[in-house]
Amino acid sequence: MLPLLLALACATDPAGGPADPTPGDGEGSADGGGGDGGDGGTAGDGGTDDTGDFCADAPLVNYATFGQGFMSTHCQGCHASTAPNRYGAPEDVVFDTVQQVWEHAPYILLLTVGEDPAMPPAGGVTPDDQTRLEWWLRCAEPGT
Ligand code: HEC
Repeated sequence: MLPLLLALACATDPAGGPADPTPGDGEGSADGGGGDGGDGGTAGDGGTDDTGDFCADAPLVNYATFGQGFMSTHCQGCHASTAPNRYGAPEDVVFDTVQQVWEHAPYILLLTVGEDPAMPPAGGVTPDDQTRLEWWLRCAEPGT
């Protein structure tokens, strides 16, 4: 039997203390900065950058949960292949299937989301639905 000598050098007490830099929010809005490597502690920055992590917070929104109903309500009145009156909507812009929607996805976002949406021509898409549309066509798996 070997007597193990465990020399546990207790490192007294770690009185180092976190050196708070105390940023002191003097600088104005420095938008668009890269992610700062938060060194421990609470990095609760209330930055509202909506581009980078737009999809990180996005709930699952897809054709089944939102898109089909949305397109049917807001677009298919003119764009369905079966629409009795297309009001001049182009023959090749039809949203009968999820595939057809995704073929035009970037265009749909361009026309439907934003400050002055062009589609539907009469407007009426709520900001909430615009957000859902973005969650869907920007974040969902393409084709779903
Ligand atoms: C009241 C009828 C009507 C509704 C509803 C409607 N559209 Fe249209 N859409 C049109 C007409 C008319 C055109 C062709 C004229 C134009 O481009 O402005 C068109 C064109 C388009 C185009 C092709 C644009 C181009 O320049 O080629 C897209 C994409 C489109 N619509 C998407 C949508 C989406 C998405 C919705 C639903 C959010 C929608 N539309 C709702 C009538 C409609």
